Amino acid sequence: MLTITYPDKVTLAHTPTPLQPLRRLQADTGGPLIWLKRDDMTGSTLSGNKVRKLEFIAAKAINNNFTALVTCGGIQSNHCRATALVAAQLGLRCHLILRGEPIDGAVADGNLLLNELSGCSISYHSSAYYNTNLSELFRLTENQLQAEGHRVFNVPTGGSNGDGIWGYIAAAEELCRDFCHYGIHPQSIIVATGSGGTQAGLMTGMSCFDSSISVYGVNVCDDASYFSSKIQQDITDWHSKYPLEAEPFNCGELLKARVNIIEGYVGDGYAIANAAVLATISRMSRLEGVVFDPVYTGKAFHGLLSEIKKGRFLDQKDLVFVHTGGLFGLFPFAKQLASSH
Ligand SMILES: Cc1ncc(COP(=O)(O)O)c(C=O)c1O
Repeated sequence: MLTITYPDKVTLAHTPTPLQPLRRLQADTGGPLIWLKRDDMTGSTLSGNKVRKLEFIAAKAINNNFTALVTCGGIQSNHCRATALVAAQLGLRCHLILRGEPIDGAVADGNLLLNELSGCSISYHSSAYYNTNLSELFRLTENQLQAEGHRVFNVPTGGSNGDGIWGYIAAAEELCRDFCHYGIHPQSIIVATGSGGTQAGLMTGMSCFDSSISVYGVNVCDDASYFSSKIQQDITDWHSKYPLEAEPFNCGELLKARVNIIEGYVGDGYAIANAAVLATISRMSRLEGVVFDPVYTGKAFHGLLSEIKKGRFLDQKDLVFVHTGGLFGLFPFAKQLASSH
């Protein structure tokens, strides 16, 4: 395997994570053997995919003497929760700009509860206001924190940019080691795509470590055309920020590579899970003891199983699905889940 020079990172994630074959699922359903990359086990409260990206983002912030992290996302954003806890762990100030407002009188649940415990400050905005004023919200927050004497490091939605994708370049290298260890050679890796950085990192990494492996994202919001350009944008940002480190990669091919998006599983919208997704979550919990979340991994895994049912991937012996975490996002769905089985 080629040797890559990675930028500095702060060690936050518990890696390598296990690669677990879902043999009971295969015995039940047939088809390829699905191996789960258990990135839901990168930590307990810092669990999921975001912490891998934050290792590189936080190092950049600290190395450049920033004292506060500001980021944004949906009200149950896993990325925001992870950023708030990383900031607490590293002694940084943190502010979250959240899309959506807590329900009056309701106690904080899931990721929101952890945000509150982390001691970060939070501003809540209606979706309409957030969607049209996000840059302004970042600017105002930066002004306020500067007035408190902070140097502010803005982290984009999902930690998806040229810095964050290093986390999944490293994960691609880790996966190739897993494949050697188990003596398998999967042709496809499938992941939930929400802001694009995880898929961008895996694509970039695989272009270098094993270009025979394709990376597919099941989008949980927006559409294929949006993610084709967003993911290429993240890779381009990475390439321009890290020209020297990017040299061993096949950048000529990578910068014009096709982005594989499996469309058709957003359902009624981002963070809305239908009965079929909830049924897949319940089934996988009972069959394998693996718990997916309704917003990302459950939707994407349901998409993967539906594609296999339609005949896709049936020529492949082994498939890899990256379990990107999101467990705390399950709890606000407790009522829906209870009535679904
Ligand atoms: C649990 C979980 N899985 C997958 C994703 C998607 O990752 P990305 O934003 O890098 O596309 C996210 C965040 O958006 C997430 O929180």
